[in-house]
Amino acid sequence: MSGPKLYVAGNWKMNGLRPDLTQIQAIRDGVASVENAPDVTVFPPATLLHAASQIVEGSLVEIGAQDCHVGEKGPFTGDLSALMLKDSGATTVILGHSERRAEHGETSREVRAKAATALRAGIKIVVCIGETRGEHVRGLTASVCRRQLADSLPDESTPETTIVAYEPVWAIGSGVSPTTEQITAVHEIVRGCLKDRFRETSGMRWRVLYGGSVSPANAASTFDSPEVDGVLVGGASLKAATFLEIITAAA
Ligand code: G3P
Repeated sequence: MSGPKLYVAGNWKMNGLRPDLTQIQAIRDGVASVENAPDVTVFPPATLLHAASQIVEGSLVEIGAQDCHVGEKGPFTGDLSALMLKDSGATTVILGHSERRAEHGETSREVRAKAATALRAGIKIVVCIGETRGEHVRGLTASVCRRQLADSLPDESTPETTIVAYEPVWAIGSGVSPTTEQITAVHEIVRGCLKDRFRETSGMRWRVLYGGSVSPANAASTFDSPEVDGVLVGGASLKAATFLEIITAAA
């Protein structure tokens, strides 16, 4: 592998009980035997966060969280702050996932505020953007992604602390993926936006991930795009054996 390491993230979503910590162990041990392994972060449910972070401590694998509250502490029953997540071993938090935007009516403005809080707490962020099926068929992909990106990223973002994940909603959990060319085109738009927003000569310092039904069957072709810096995997990350096939494809 030439160039900077790729990044492979596994979003377990609302899946995983304590017996599934054996999968974290298997991912940790599997990554240790992959030559030129990519950077790997697993995002288990919050209930497994601390135990999972203890399992991977000192290894090449990091543990992240799937959301955080905008506040730092206070009367927010049932919520978790970025500081709590960091205290439990999370190095990174996913924000603005389309499932939260849909299920919880989360807006880009709210994502941006959460992202600023997470960065202040000293954890990295993976900010998700992506168009719905309706927006896709109406040819609104570029404008939707530009707007979501502009509204979701705080000014404090840097290439070292902030990753962008393009997840076309219509591809999530569907088994249907855009072509490598389609993914490349959107990533180029994202990178151009990052370049302009942060006044850089090129957007190449930023990590832009693809997420949406990535599997061992399409991982290699996804990584073929020079605009893909990694993947955000859902269902295929739940079992170590399958997830390790994708990790190996990124090595
Ligand atoms: O965050 C990644 C996720 O939305 C993709 O899900 O199951 O299509 O890989 P899946």
